[in-house]
Amino acid sequence: MYQNLIVTGGCGFIGTNFIRYVLEETDFSGRIINVDILTYAGNPLSLADIADKYGDRYVFVKADICDYKEMLSVVEQYDVDSICHFAAESHVDRSILHPDDFINTNIIGTYNLLKVAYEKIETIKRFHHVSTDEVFGSLGAEGLFREDTPYAPNSPYSASKASSDHLVRAYCETFGVPVTMSNCSNNYGPYQFPEKLVPLMILNALEGKALPVYGDGQNVRDWLFVKDHCIAIWEIMFSGVVGETYNVGGRNEMKNLDVVKVICNLVDEVAEPLASGESRESLISFVKDRLGHDRRYAIDCNKIDAELGWTPSESFETGIRKTVKWYLSNMDWSESVRTGEYQNWIKENYL
Ligand code: NAD
Ligand code: TYD
Repeated sequence: MYQNLIVTGGCGFIGTNFIRYVLEETDFSGRIINVDILTYAGNPLSLADIADKYGDRYVFVKADICDYKEMLSVVEQYDVDSICHFAAESHVDRSILHPDDFINTNIIGTYNLLKVAYEKIETIKRFHHVSTDEVFGSLGAEGLFREDTPYAPNSPYSASKASSDHLVRAYCETFGVPVTMSNCSNNYGPYQFPEKLVPLMILNALEGKALPVYGDGQNVRDWLFVKDHCIAIWEIMFSGVVGETYNVGGRNEMKNLDVVKVICNLVDEVAEPLASGESRESLISFVKDRLGHDRRYAIDCNKIDAELGWTPSESFETGIRKTVKWYLSNMDWSESVRTGEYQNWIKENYL
């Protein structure tokens, strides 16, 4: 069992859910050190109750993973024996607008952490790297991404994640750093910053705003409920084989337009009707397509199922119901993370 686990990017969407899951629902008895620089996507308020409840077992360090000396000193100060690496710039649209941050954090930041792990190889028992299915590129109508599918990233975001995956693999092969990796599909659930499709549509539908669907809305993604993802990562950190990579998917392939329609119908069910009396589907607005928009992602997650006994427990129908309910009950949280600058950019570009 790990005693001192660094979680990078713990104030972001998946990191927050992961820290909550590990502290509240597993038999982990050690300490989590959450290392996060708090970009626009990092919100320490998401874990305020955890900080109160777990005392010394939860430590927050505001630091940049690109800073080698600082990362080394955190590892030394807290006797770190394991790292679960989430910190990244994660939004494709932003990577099209400002690729620099993606190169720095996703590539240089990961490289720094790997150097630290190698420097401390006597004590680091596991370095888990969280990556994306987007590294595999875009699929046609048929087929699934497997762990051995060749990499073909198309956006600055996916190219930066692909680079980090290669570095992680290389540090294991060359220097023996005990890594595992996971490549997962699109996550959704509580605490997701409302720039991504699901929370943006939920909040806009609640507020009666336009629902911007890129292109023809026929792009396909696989949807993974965030808690299922956290369970998979924890399983890999303990039972995954060093040097191996695992695909994690929700077995929920859907077209974007269908995702938006499901959200509209759910919001119609739980919220006040629109003043017009129409369904929220009337808010759907087709806008210009994303540059280089990948057509279809779909993931074969049979390896983690067969080898580690993990399978997703939520269908999109059950997971999205929980998610809509969460956003409805946590409007304050959404308000606190929405900033003017990015909303203006969305308006200028897409609405
Ligand atoms: P997010 O954008 O919500 O959170 C990222 C977190 O990293 C934020 O708290 C941010 O402050 C922090 N961070 C950014 N740069 C940092 C730096 N230089 N130093 C320290 N902290 C920094 O992202 P997320 O959706 O939670 O994604 C987490 C990981 O999962 C990422 O590596 C992402 O590529 C991967 N992933 C996400 C999805 C998804 O659907 N969200 C799917 C596949 C893979
Ligand atoms: P997103 O949530 O940004 O995740 P990713 O790009 O990592 O898959 O987008 C999911 C899909 O939804 C993607 O095909 C782009 C599309 N999309 C829209 O149609 N409208 C939107 O406002 C957003 C944010 C995304």
